[in-house]
Amino acid sequence: MKTVIKDLKIGVLMGGVSAEREISLKTGNAVANSLVSMGYNVKKFDLDKNFFEDAKNIDICFNALHGTLGEDGKIQGVLELLNIPYTGSGVEASAIAMDKIKSKIIFKYYGLAVPDFFSVKKGEKAELLNKKINNLRLPYFIKPNAQGSSVGASIAYSKSELYLALEDAFKYDDEVIAEEYIVGREIQFAVFSGKPLGCVEIKPNDSFYSYSAKYTKGKTEYILNPDLTEEEYKACENASVLAHTSLDCKGITRTDIILSDSGKAYVLEINTLPGLTEFSLVPMIAQKKGIDFNSLIENIIEDAISCE
Ligand SMILES: Nc1ncnc2c1ncn2[C@@H]1O[C@H](COP(=O)(O)OP(=O)(O)OP(=O)(O)O)[C@@H](O)[C@H]1O
Ligand SMILES: [Mg+2]
Repeated sequence: MKTVIKDLKIGVLMGGVSAEREISLKTGNAVANSLVSMGYNVKKFDLDKNFFEDAKNIDICFNALHGTLGEDGKIQGVLELLNIPYTGSGVEASAIAMDKIKSKIIFKYYGLAVPDFFSVKKGEKAELLNKKINNLRLPYFIKPNAQGSSVGASIAYSKSELYLALEDAFKYDDEVIAEEYIVGREIQFAVFSGKPLGCVEIKPNDSFYSYSAKYTKGKTEYILNPDLTEEEYKACENASVLAHTSLDCKGITRTDIILSDSGKAYVLEINTLPGLTEFSLVPMIAQKKGIDFNSLIENIIEDAISCE
């Protein structure tokens, strides 16, 4: 155990009310078990209104809250207010990363390749929507602006499918993003504290990395040593590091990329709170680099303290 942090009271914050509650509990418990096994002083919290009181007794918060409230800058704001250091990205980076449209605007500004896209707001006038749709080169990929796990996401090959896809995505968000469909290989690249950690290739047994491909055992093949040329690897590495730094992210991020057949790394999104169970992708990527789960968790805490 690192002497600097051995006396800290670490609060592991998990659960909450988001759609990702279950996976957050898994991440939180995996993190807490790891810390306990290393002899740390750990307290687990399932986020509720008592957190304001409970938090007074901790020195640092390990944020394991995926999704709404935990990954979108809100809990980070509360922790700032309480003056408690926390793991991962800050208020602004978390909020922007959660917003696919706003983060893409920033990525474009920094010269990253992103699919052409437009946004549609719920209740938008048919006239305006038709104008956006009229001259599109389909297929397009439709998804809610600020959701995860591919909920409400689909490919539209025709105009009628596009209208249906929008309708479906609006069930999950009041704003929807429609993106040019990029053909290529799917690479997820992890970055830790601004430095590349490594990647995994995703081969879903579905038309895309859908909800069922993500959560049905055996439905997706994960390749930890993808067969990439040096240029292809560099393109993904540079894109993910720039995605991380352009938003001023901290700690661990995972950037989702489609590597097109021409070798261009298109950034789909950046995740500021990737899953951290022992079977999640980022720990697998770290393991490949020789960083075991306990060391990864310890490194994340050290990074949070050094960012203070
Ligand atoms: N423009 C696109 N072209 C091709 N495939 C896409 C595109 N956008 C999304 N996809 C597919 O849909 C999946 C989900 O998209 P994305 O990662 O943007 O959403 P998410 O639901 O926020 O995911 P996560 O669970 O990683 O938070 C991608 O992993 C990819 O397979
Ligand atoms: Mg994704």
